[in-house]
Amino acid sequence: MRLGLTFALGIAMIAAATSKPVSFENDITPILTGKCQPCHFPGGTMYAKRPFDKPATIIALGEKLFTRIKDEKQRAIIRAYLAEQKR
Ligand code: HEC
Repeated sequence: MRLGLTFALGIAMIAAATSKPVSFENDITPILTGKCQPCHFPGGTMYAKRPFDKPATIIALGEKLFTRIKDEKQRAIIRAYLAEQKR
């Protein structure tokens, strides 16, 4: 399917730009700990509801994270990570 191919190419380009595979610990966590501490990490006010040290939280929120993450390079890494989870 043509759309599928375009999508696959897009993912491949993102993956190449971010040196795949995207690792939660090595790629995603540093973005989140840099900006979302202390609230979404152990001891923070949002940890019980939205713990950002758990991949499931990030996968569930998906692009809702982008309300607080504006850096396009960081967004690309998160998008690539989310795309990998859907395979
Ligand atoms: C100063 C504390 C604090 C920091 C830092 C913080 N958050 Fe939050 N976050 C909250 C609180 C409190 C809420 C719940 C109220 C709201 O939605 O604003 C929340 C809610 C959210 C939600 C909505 C969750 C839902 O249930 O739909 C998202 C998405 C989110 N934060 C992402 C982020 C991201 C991404 C970062 C880092 C870039 C971040 N937050 C940093 C305190 C924080």
